[in-house]
Amino acid sequence: MKNIIKIHSRIPSFNQTIVIPGDKSISIRCILLGAQANGKSKFYNLLESGDVKSKINAVKSLGVKIKKKKTFHEISGVGLNGFEYKKNLVIDCGNSGTLARLLCGMLAGYNCEVKIIGDKSLSRRDFSRVVRPLKLFGVNFQNKKKLPIKISGSKFLRPINYIEEKGSAQVKSSIMLAALNTPGITSITSKPSRNHTENILKYCLRLPIYITKKRKLDVINLEGQKNFKSFDYKIPGDISSAAFFIVLTLLSKDSKLKIKSVNVNESRTGILTILKRMGANIKLVNKKFHNGEHNADLLIKSTKEFKSINCPSSLNTKTIDEFLIIFLVCAKAKGTSRFNKIHELRQKESDRLKFAAQFLKKIGIKVKEKYDSLTIYGNPNLKLTGNFIVKNFLNDHRVFMMTCIAALSFGGKFKIHDKNSINSSFPNFLKIIRKLGAKIN
Ligand code: S3P
Repeated sequence: MKNIIKIHSRIPSFNQTIVIPGDKSISIRCILLGAQANGKSKFYNLLESGDVKSKINAVKSLGVKIKKKKTFHEISGVGLNGFEYKKNLVIDCGNSGTLARLLCGMLAGYNCEVKIIGDKSLSRRDFSRVVRPLKLFGVNFQNKKKLPIKISGSKFLRPINYIEEKGSAQVKSSIMLAALNTPGITSITSKPSRNHTENILKYCLRLPIYITKKRKLDVINLEGQKNFKSFDYKIPGDISSAAFFIVLTLLSKDSKLKIKSVNVNESRTGILTILKRMGANIKLVNKKFHNGEHNADLLIKSTKEFKSINCPSSLNTKTIDEFLIIFLVCAKAKGTSRFNKIHELRQKESDRLKFAAQFLKKIGIKVKEKYDSLTIYGNPNLKLTGNFIVKNFLNDHRVFMMTCIAALSFGGKFKIHDKNSINSSFPNFLKIIRKLGAKIN
């Protein structure tokens, strides 16, 4: 299949309602926890993307049965400590950092040796962040920094008391998954980050998890070795995918969009806070609370003028996957926008900070890039006319989608490589873009 697309014109005005695929983080957690529950779980609107398929294959290789029914996926859980594993098992996590890191925690309590591998992008990402706490539980690793790694778990884990300083939900969740198989109480003190794992443990599985605040940190105490029953989950739309359409609408002329049932968990909505402060016209309606998660319909309208922002770094973990697309709004804003302590962007599927700086320069926007910050000198009159060829560093889905939105919003003639990257998180991205009226070849 052709892996390049061409966009040669801005998107015409639109007024539509769309539905975004299920949240990736919640989908992955449902599979992992459903696999360890007692009984059959039903998951509606599970994201069907490359990252989630890697997850399904991973738990299948551990003896779990998953069936795709008409409106849901059914997982037959094998119970806590019930995985079956073959000798010399190799699990391929593809492009998914969340899968690979959470899997390490999930396998911690198994006395087996499993090799974890991933694609080129995943193989450059840091694993010492999960190896460090898991070793304290009593897990052994061969190769401690990068994939491929070999993990040798243990039947005799000891609970830990860990301070997680990065504000990484992947690290925090990996520790919680190990804690499920560990006797006693594991305690994690963590900078706040997305809390879907905690919500499922508390609201769906009714496990003994207690969360308090200490200064600005979350203190999580989780008692392990408690069996749990299967659960059903209707997965809401992913705000990280909705983000591309929010920005497309804001930057397009005379357009309106309703995005139905999007997860607006407070730990994920940095994008809404930032864009509203910049002047964006976004409203949340039809709010609902389900399984510990807040969901809502989003109403977005084109916005003519944007103010710049000096982004408080306290919003960074809440915005981590959305910075790329927010930078496009900053390119069009009046004044200078600043983002500090955002070096985690260099650790994503590719070095997104480097890409953003190069891309913005390419489209004529002045930027200042430092190791951990980006300054963007906006141009409210930004309109493109030239030819642009955009190549992706490492097949990064969000880089590809951000570039498409730039082309549809600012004009110019774009040739964008690595279309297939969208399979990681948002396979029907281009279909929705076309439904809104864009011409893409
Ligand atoms: C995720 C956490 C974030 C995010 C990633 C998904 C998760 O990573 O960037 O796309 O599902 O836990 P970090 O926890 O490493 O910041």
